[in-house]
Amino acid sequence: MQRRSFLKIGTIATAGALLKPFNSIAQINAMNELRRQSFGANFLFGTATAAAQIEGAWAEDGKSPSIWDVFSAKEDKTIDGGTTEFACDFYHKYEEDIALMADLGFDVFRFSIAWTRILPYGTEHVNQRGIDFYNKVIDACLAKGLQPWVTLYHWDLPQILEDKGGWTNRDVIEWFSNYVEVCAESFGDRVKNWMVFNEPMAFTGLGYLGGMHAPGKRGMSKFLKSVHYVSMCQAEGGRILRRLVPKANIGTTFSCTAVEPKDPAKKRHVIAARKADAMFNRLFIEPALGMGYPIDDVPVFKGITKYIEPGDKEKLKFDFDFIGLQNYFRTVAKFSLWPPLMWANMVKAEKLVENKDDLTAMGWEVSPKGIYDVIMQFSAYNVPMIITENGAAFEDHLTSEGKVHDERRIQFFKDYLSYVLKAKDEGADLRGYFLWTFMDNFEWAEGYEPRFGIVYNDYETQKRYPKDSALWWQGFLKGSI
Ligand code: GAL
Repeated sequence: MQRRSFLKIGTIATAGALLKPFNSIAQINAMNELRRQSFGANFLFGTATAAAQIEGAWAEDGKSPSIWDVFSAKEDKTIDGGTTEFACDFYHKYEEDIALMADLGFDVFRFSIAWTRILPYGTEHVNQRGIDFYNKVIDACLAKGLQPWVTLYHWDLPQILEDKGGWTNRDVIEWFSNYVEVCAESFGDRVKNWMVFNEPMAFTGLGYLGGMHAPGKRGMSKFLKSVHYVSMCQAEGGRILRRLVPKANIGTTFSCTAVEPKDPAKKRHVIAARKADAMFNRLFIEPALGMGYPIDDVPVFKGITKYIEPGDKEKLKFDFDFIGLQNYFRTVAKFSLWPPLMWANMVKAEKLVENKDDLTAMGWEVSPKGIYDVIMQFSAYNVPMIITENGAAFEDHLTSEGKVHDERRIQFFKDYLSYVLKAKDEGADLRGYFLWTFMDNFEWAEGYEPRFGIVYNDYETQKRYPKDSALWWQGFLKGSI
């Protein structure tokens, strides 16, 4: 599944006044220089990461293989042959990394727990050494004044459970509940902020429909089963946290993209855009809010009803305290007869940009207004929001002095933050912004080639080099710029 978007010029409103249209976001920046204080005293800034992407130590201290350990070790599954074996060696370097995050001035460290460290057999037998590792990470955060925000599942299912069908087996509701209980009981005394899932649309769509991500399965029925069981787990995970963690702030995260039709005057493109929106943006949040699956807009989703058992509809609901929005680009949808996306398709990002500088190293279009559009769209659900991921990969070069001059990334953050602020100023209930990502890491099927970090990682030496963007963030967060 490709994720695409295009840049459109809009109007901005600040301090309640509607201003005339601007030609570029640079003009917005010039007018309204970004200041941390403009976001309000309680607005949280953080960095986000995921266990499989940074930890390495894939077989250490009792950890069992995850689907990503197994998948990345197969031939031709990652572009550069990269595996999760060493990644950034965060497993051994967490203290240094956490100290650097704190030094840069962040409030929050968002990280995920590897299910395979906690329950190597998938269920029941708790691995104390896995618990010890996350206790150390949590305590290191607290000692440095960083709030730990924990994602329970960021794509690394125990392979032993995948061998029984993984997310396509209804038993996963029980397996996952067991895992969430252990995490809540082990860490809930110190961790108050939780996210049940990271981007369910991405791991079900890419893992069970498209097959580009672990476990590499393909097929509509596999996908629809996984959608329903993941949705059941999404709500059940929330309920378990509510029961076991006093004063918990419970959320879950969604990939989201502003979807536009290729030509708004053509009905077939408008219908394609509605389908893409239902699939990319609405499929997982609406059942949680009691709205059911968006079956009317994507008839092929009707197949999901086969897997819905009596009582499930109620159990799909959970009253989340917040939702995490994760945005990278915008999508332009067009009608297509050949349907990877059930009669909607994406316009290629290269076709949408005039200047190739508007493409990131992932081939995604830089489209800052898109983050504003998704925030406004999701505002309609009336749940507090946090941007739990936003960032970009660009080609970075480490100089002989150990510097990385990543001006494009700095500009990216300024542009996106300007639109985040605009949404907030217009009344969106937005509580924080966590950038993706702290340091360059394992970018799933793209291996180690794309660098998304504000800290450069030399994978040979595992030495960290803060890029210019890290220094920009430090200045922004500490109020010196
Ligand atoms: C997200 C994902 C992250 C990271 C990011 C950049 O979809 O949650 O793990 O890979 O994309 O591509």
